[in-house]
Amino acid sequence: MKAIATSILCSALMLASSAAMCAQDKAALMAKGQKVYNEYCKTCHQANGQGLGAVYPPLAKSDYLKSTPMPKIIKEVVKGKSGKLKVNGKEYNGVMAPLPKKYTDEDIAGVITYVYNSFGNSGPVVTPADVKKHKK
Ligand code: HEC
Repeated sequence: MKAIATSILCSALMLASSAAMCAQDKAALMAKGQKVYNEYCKTCHQANGQGLGAVYPPLAKSDYLKSTPMPKIIKEVVKGKSGKLKVNGKEYNGVMAPLPKKYTDEDIAGVITYVYNSFGNSGPVVTPADVKKHKK
């Protein structure tokens, strides 16, 4: 009963301001995101987000991730990304394929929130509504 009340309160807060995320929602997104990361992103970006060799750029402490606006990051993760790119002073020129269609807006919100707040990064919480709005 208490959990339901908290959840209603969270929804009310989210309606009041999309920026106001409940800690509980963040934890849920982080947990979901970690699963998606380990299932999909880890192959290339590695377990600690350190990247691999000359092809897969790091997500850990990535200056690109930090300085690029969130809507663009959402779009690139969903639609894929290729071409020249500089991360932490190192040049990359690879191809990241589009995200498989099976992943939901909530999965995507989770995995980007996870990347933004793991591996020594500290960034925003991405909501499923953000994903819906910016993925196209
Ligand atoms: C098949 C390998 C592969 C997978 C899987 C993959 N990526 Fe990437 N990713 C890349 C490559 C290669 C680039 C660089 C593309 C370029 O050179 O333009 C990249 C670039 C990025 C960047 C921007 C550069 C940086 O390091 O900050 C982000 C953010 C990112 N990926 C996040 C993700 C997330 C989140 C996932 C999982 C949902 C994911 N990637 C899955 C290969 C991959």
